[in-house]
Amino acid sequence: MNPGQTLAEAVSAATAVLRDAGVPSPRVDAELLADHLLNVGLGRLRALMLGDAPAPEGYAELVAERAGRVPLQHITGVAHFRYLELAVGPGVFVPRPETESVVQLVIDHVRGMAAPRIVDLGTGSGAIAGSIAHEVPGAEVHAVEFSPMAHAWAARNLEPLGVHLVLGDLRTALPELNGTFDVVISNPPYIPAEAIPNEPEVALHDPPEALYGGGTDGMELPTAAARSAARLLRPGGYFVMEHAEVQAGWISALLGRQGSWRGISTHLDLNGKERATSAVLAGPGRTE
Ligand SMILES: C[S@@+](CC[C@H](N)C(=O)[O-])C[C@H]1O[C@@H](n2cnc3c(N)ncnc32)[C@H](O)[C@@H]1O
Repeated sequence: MNPGQTLAEAVSAATAVLRDAGVPSPRVDAELLADHLLNVGLGRLRALMLGDAPAPEGYAELVAERAGRVPLQHITGVAHFRYLELAVGPGVFVPRPETESVVQLVIDHVRGMAAPRIVDLGTGSGAIAGSIAHEVPGAEVHAVEFSPMAHAWAARNLEPLGVHLVLGDLRTALPELNGTFDVVISNPPYIPAEAIPNEPEVALHDPPEALYGGGTDGMELPTAAARSAARLLRPGGYFVMEHAEVQAGWISALLGRQGSWRGISTHLDLNGKERATSAVLAGPGRTE
């Protein structure tokens, strides 16, 4: 990228730099970084690239950061999730598109319910809780997060949406609300300890406490989330949890063993992978 370059030339050069660095979507990222500086929207940006608009100041620095595999969302400070723009940065998990479908399961489930009470365990940036609060009128939404850094990001995102956020451990949080929720949703950490992700954006920038579920199979926190769901839900309440594809069978078996669930169902993500499981609390029953 040279002084005097047009926007179109700079974005093409940036695309090549990002491609060489192994960034998975180099062209889109190059455009989004330019738009972060120009703030015109992608449609207008592409129109500007047809003419001889100049490259924005500071563009090369942002491209170099992204080429160093700093997540795009950490550079722009924003993650898009469903209808929300969430503030994100160091210390918080960047929400993923596949989680948007898990949120949809809850939105579909509570349709027609007056004032559903919903809790999100391990809220991170607040993506799940915030989306539900935004999209389900009358819902009373609670969120639990145990990392103080993530909690600070969640507070910033969730306060304007009226979500009740607590700093706490999903294993023990909200005991005063046991048996009162219509829905428990969770995208807990679930990666097995040995399965260090390949992408530097994840391995180096997502907080470890957001990734690793505990134990060799990563199942400790998913197991704890299911146990807490049985504690927090009213009989007939709905539980949905995101997990790794390989864990689908284990989660169904786990819920079966806990003895208090019916209607255990596995759900596919947009790529046809078994990435979420739901169940309905049958009534007071044993949990393992
Ligand atoms: C995979 S991230 C998901 C974040 C967010 N729900 C999302 O879908 O983008 C898991 C989150 O759970 C939090 N977490 C980990 N252990 C926890 C615990 N014991 N209690 C509460 N939150 C926990 C992590 O800090 C992280 O924010």
